[in-house]
Amino acid sequence: MSTDPQQDPPPPIRVFILSASLRDGSLNTRLAALVARLVEEHGAMADVARLGDFPMPLYDGDAEAAGGVPEGALALRERIQACQALVIASPEYNASVPGMLKNAVDWVSRIRPQPFQDKQALLVSASPSLVGGNRGLWALRVPLEHLGTRVYPDMFSLAAAHEAFTEDGDLADTALRKRLSDTVEYFLQLAEADSRYVCLKRRWYEFLGDRSDSPVTQRAQE
Ligand code: FNR
Repeated sequence: MSTDPQQDPPPPIRVFILSASLRDGSLNTRLAALVARLVEEHGAMADVARLGDFPMPLYDGDAEAAGGVPEGALALRERIQACQALVIASPEYNASVPGMLKNAVDWVSRIRPQPFQDKQALLVSASPSLVGGNRGLWALRVPLEHLGTRVYPDMFSLAAAHEAFTEDGDLADTALRKRLSDTVEYFLQLAEADSRYVCLKRRWYEFLGDRSDSPVTQRAQE
């Protein structure tokens, strides 16, 4: 069977959508489910998970030296690696990244190749507060960008999230729903373009673990 690029559309891109809350009834898990619905509406494939699907202890260098990286971190790395794009729906704890999410990023970053490098990522949050957990997303950008992730400039933070959802999991506010849908659509356009063309060439990012050559000044990516 022949494949004609003029006639055969490229396969849909795969998007891994992770809720970073462990809590049953999590607002971020609801937001992740809505993002998954929008991802599918815009023609991509959604792979949805919760951080609790990947149990792992607190990072401990001695435990890693003795037993390696835990199964949960290995499984999370595989799921991220299998997708072209990543969405994280994360709570904000004390104006920053929840410890369990940072712990998961730290464990996964110990695996080579680590899957965050060059991954297109969209960050979203939900909170009962009036800022919707947005400060936590700014904090989350730092470790992800450190690892070479291409964090999408726009983020989406759902304020008063405990009152924001309809019974069927949509957003009651239609303007807000459109904003989220547009954000997901434009993010997917970039992720899809980046999966087919080189959209961004970078000379340097900080994560030392991805530098295979010395001297230290060697670029991570040409
Ligand atoms: C919170 N919460 C919170 N919310 C917020 O908007 N800014 C904050 O700084 C914090 N800090 C914070 C710390 C800790 C330890 C907890 C447990 C909670 C409230 C938080 O947004 C709320 O519990 C959300 O419902 C958590 O997200 P999930 O679990 O519903 O997805």
